[in-house]
Amino acid sequence: MAKPKKRYVCTECGSVATRWQGQCGDCQQWNTLVEDAPETTFAAKHDLSTGGRSIVFEALDAPTKPLHRRTTGLAEFDRALGGGLVPGCAILMGGEPGIGKSTLLLQAAAKIAKSGGDVVYVSGEEATGQVRMRAKRLGLADAPLRLAAATSVRDILTTLGTHGAPDLLVVDSIQTMHSDMIEGAPGTVSQVRASAFELIRYAKQTGTCLVLVGHVTKDGNIAGPRVLEHMVDTVMSFEGERSHQYRILRSLKNRFGAVDEIGVFAMEGSGLEEVSNPSSLFLSGREEPIAGSAVFPALEGTRPVLVEIQALIVRLQSGATPRRAVVGWDSGRLAMLLAVLESRCGLSFSTAEVYLNVAGGYRLSDPAADLAVAAALISALADKPLPASGIWLGEVALSGEVRPVAHTSLRLREAAKLGFASACGPVDGAQDVASLGYKDIAGVSALVDRVMAGS
Ligand code: TYD
Ligand code: MG
Repeated sequence: MAKPKKRYVCTECGSVATRWQGQCGDCQQWNTLVEDAPETTFAAKHDLSTGGRSIVFEALDAPTKPLHRRTTGLAEFDRALGGGLVPGCAILMGGEPGIGKSTLLLQAAAKIAKSGGDVVYVSGEEATGQVRMRAKRLGLADAPLRLAAATSVRDILTTLGTHGAPDLLVVDSIQTMHSDMIEGAPGTVSQVRASAFELIRYAKQTGTCLVLVGHVTKDGNIAGPRVLEHMVDTVMSFEGERSHQYRILRSLKNRFGAVDEIGVFAMEGSGLEEVSNPSSLFLSGREEPIAGSAVFPALEGTRPVLVEIQALIVRLQSGATPRRAVVGWDSGRLAMLLAVLESRCGLSFSTAEVYLNVAGGYRLSDPAADLAVAAALISALADKPLPASGIWLGEVALSGEVRPVAHTSLRLREAAKLGFASACGPVDGAQDVASLGYKDIAGVSALVDRVMAGS
């Protein structure tokens, strides 16, 4: 048999190369190619059309057992999962180091154990003493879960094989696991993949729900093993700014539910608190109306979250190049909005520094935020506060028109619940929003008039 060829895998994008290069040919990242186990190819003499077992085909409408989901004891976690844990599912929990993955999973594991589930928590990063201390801090030290510090997949599976399969197996983290089926240090692409493969196979065979923790790199990729994303049923990401207390649990892929639902938590001294009304978290601390502040009803899946957008305009005396700094929004989109306001409404930002911030460390990606950002910018420029009880929503086109956005009435109803009496945005014929205090804004010029009139 020919000697197997070496191959190299990019730890950022997972692409495969046949020789080592400093830069990945696909994602252009530097120093990300690592050697991987060679692809095994057999002499191609076999004929695959004979010799196999015959498989049984089934009808699409054949009866299936209904999914029995198990609650994690944390409603926000369940919501992000699409209703709870499904037996035999493999979940990858990604997140930056220190964001709270271990805390979240320990809380969920302890709650499941307390409600009678059989839970195994394997830590490859921390000693059992450390985990026990954390459980004590969380007030969950009495939960009857089975805790171990181990990194050998064979040891874990051998032990579980003799004690019976648990309902939930948490492995923290997959990068510390080692499989002796192949060579290589823990954390390498091939090790991570092999360890995950063995654990997932165990989960599928026994109906155990498996949660693998995976650290992510700065730019949000699950470090090294992007390959893992294909192997698991659900990929979740735990996000947030470490300097802020709120955390968002998002599902990026889910074979058992929708992918756009989020769970919101706040990191407190005694662990993660569930936040069932996220708007209160992002709007807290708003007092008297001030110029440059506008409220926008963002949508996370089917859940509206009201956030405050803050703008500050500083006029420059000298001819220095003005700064534009954005936190929580796209800077390209800000540049576009400034250009629209300059060219369609004659407002001048060219000699002013523009700062834009989404309060609470929230990150907005919804184009429906355009109108609220524009309102905040005009309000800051004119030094006129917007009405404190108003919200703004709409997508601004390059022509200066304002376009309707998805789920207007859902957003308006949430705002009304929180005491926002009026809303401004484009009226879409299909939406029955008249009763919700909705005022029509067809273009950015109308927006300028309204902000100037303070209504
Ligand atoms: P951790 O769960 O260890 O993060 P990860 O597993 O994602 O690396 O959480 C680490 C941070 O959370 C740590 O910096 C301290 C903070 N924390 C609290 O603020 N309150 C708590 O009750 C706990 C347990 C942790
Ligand atoms: Mg951890």
